[in-house]
Amino acid sequence: MDKKIVLTGDRPTGKLHIGHYVGSLRNRVRMQNEGNYNMFVMIADLQALTDNAKNPEKVRKSILQIALDYLGVGLDPEKTTIYIQSQIPALSELDMYFMNLVTVSRLERNPTVKSEIQQKNFDRSIPAGFLTYPVSQTADIAAFKASLIPVGDDQEPMMEQAREIVRTFNTTYGDVLVEPEGVFPPKGQGRIPGIDGNAKMSKSLGNTIYLSDDEDTLREKIMSIYTDPDHIHVEDPGKIEGNVVFTYLDIFGKDLNKIQEMKDEYRHGGLGDVKIKNYLFDVINEELTPIRNRRAEYAKDPAAVYDMLEKGSEKANIVANKTLQEVKDAMGINYFKK
Ligand code: TRP
Repeated sequence: MDKKIVLTGDRPTGKLHIGHYVGSLRNRVRMQNEGNYNMFVMIADLQALTDNAKNPEKVRKSILQIALDYLGVGLDPEKTTIYIQSQIPALSELDMYFMNLVTVSRLERNPTVKSEIQQKNFDRSIPAGFLTYPVSQTADIAAFKASLIPVGDDQEPMMEQAREIVRTFNTTYGDVLVEPEGVFPPKGQGRIPGIDGNAKMSKSLGNTIYLSDDEDTLREKIMSIYTDPDHIHVEDPGKIEGNVVFTYLDIFGKDLNKIQEMKDEYRHGGLGDVKIKNYLFDVINEELTPIRNRRAEYAKDPAAVYDMLEKGSEKANIVANKTLQEVKDAMGINYFKK
């Protein structure tokens, strides 16, 4: 039987953080290492440009950073095709054909796009490319006939929209494309709050822990984490709910008994914030150290990383071009085909 095709990607607008890690990177590495999937991972620079058109340098610089994050967490170019979106022309061509299969009002209803538009204060000046990026994302997926898409919970509306477009294509022109579904993180681990207690960890909010943070930075950030503002003295009873240290321990911790004991003691009073933070540091640092070290090793030779991306892009082009031909055949726009 053919292996199922797994595909996902990230916008290169900065380094990846532990939110990306628990949201999607962990799932990718697991799926890669299970060996039962044909894996594609893309650095989505076209999508990054939809709201960074005036700042292409930021996108350009971030490509290497994202590639290093990928290699750091254990994506292996021998097993996973890693490539750059803009280097696959078929994606843009498919995007043009798909654009006619969706309405503007449907795009405006996409909840993720809607909240991003608010967050970015576009007001009435929404770049057309931004509003339509779910169509481009559908092309990313459909070009590889991917059926499984490891993404964070916020991407469910994209999957929904991709399925709709694929379905419309297939009923209109013939059964060529594959309907994708998201592979989401375990319940309760999909969204990791920022170190400041904000519900979302995001670069623009300045509340992230990067995969590449060195030990000192990591310690500093963990010591600044939002806990329970009413837990002033060690002996005061403390709250677990909304306490980011415990949220992170629930996500990264392995010694569940110890964590339960700490929660009980904290709730009761007598356990200080510094103690729980020191423990959290040990837990997260243990997980990030091998990632950080591997990343630093690859960072010594950026040319080799670009070489890997170029080879990955060549492989990706072969697959995407084949689908594009099938799409054009189905649509009858293969005028010169002999
Ligand atoms: N929108 C995704 C994000 O912001 C990135 C992305 C682009 C993507 N193309 C994709 C994810 C295709 C999955 C499949 O994280």
